[in-house]
Amino acid sequence: MTTDFLKGYDIQYWLESCPQGYLMDTEYGHRPGEKEPELVAQDPVLREQAVRTTVQLVLGERCALAASSGLINAAPDEASKRFLATQTLDEARHVEVFTRRLHDLGVKASELEDTLTSFANPHLVRFAETLLEVVDRKDFVAGVVGQNLVLEGMAFHVFEMMFAANQQANPKFAHTLSGTIADERRHVGFGENRIGGLIRQQPERKRDVERLQRDMSYHMLATFGAAFREGPRPDEVAERLRKAGVERSGQDSWQGVQLGEASPEELERVLGDTILKEFKLRLARVGLDYQTPLRPV
Ligand SMILES: [Fe+2]
Ligand SMILES: [Fe+2]
Repeated sequence: MTTDFLKGYDIQYWLESCPQGYLMDTEYGHRPGEKEPELVAQDPVLREQAVRTTVQLVLGERCALAASSGLINAAPDEASKRFLATQTLDEARHVEVFTRRLHDLGVKASELEDTLTSFANPHLVRFAETLLEVVDRKDFVAGVVGQNLVLEGMAFHVFEMMFAANQQANPKFAHTLSGTIADERRHVGFGENRIGGLIRQQPERKRDVERLQRDMSYHMLATFGAAFREGPRPDEVAERLRKAGVERSGQDSWQGVQLGEASPEELERVLGDTILKEFKLRLARVGLDYQTPLRPV
């Protein structure tokens, strides 16, 4: 079997670009010595918002860790197994750096699991269950579509938006996100490269994989929607930052929207539009037709 799809996805490439590349001289994903801004630690509204967001990141990354490690034994070829081994370490690192952020925000180790449970978005929990059921069945095609295309293809844009919003307000968190974004770009690239070939070889899988995409996309989009509706409004957060003298002008715009001034509805719309546009293109490249999610009754 040719392993051309793995050009740029082998362990040597991973070593050179990731641990010996953009992660060099980082400490838990950020620059050594960087700390959460004092304001976030002191203002209870901002702190709770930061904890709530980070909880979803930890849960999403725990799901990716369980899925990527489980998919190693489901992979039909050695090259994919080796790539998934690198992805497993990436996801374990993501779990670690975002868990570490919860501790930096004052969540004690003994409170970690309870904090995760109390802030967990139910749609994200359902998404993780759906993906891990597929992985447990050792369904490689459906598992890679669910993980590397739906979960990572969609979360990628959320990370980018969060990076833009935090670049000035919280450089420590922004730096943690930038390494994660670089990793996720590689994971999504693998998904596209590997799945396109498999769908061509197994066209009979197309329909059930598309159905799975529809169900999983619903839970991902519902997770993002809830993220904007829960907690303080983004303009309230911006106002608190402004009062504390944190200037974010200019740099926190993403997809033409000023993140500090946008309403939750505007943010949800621009994120949804961006995600779906890119996601449809990505699916088309691997030979799948996007299925619009149905609202569960
Ligand atoms: Fe990840
Ligand atoms: Fe990932």
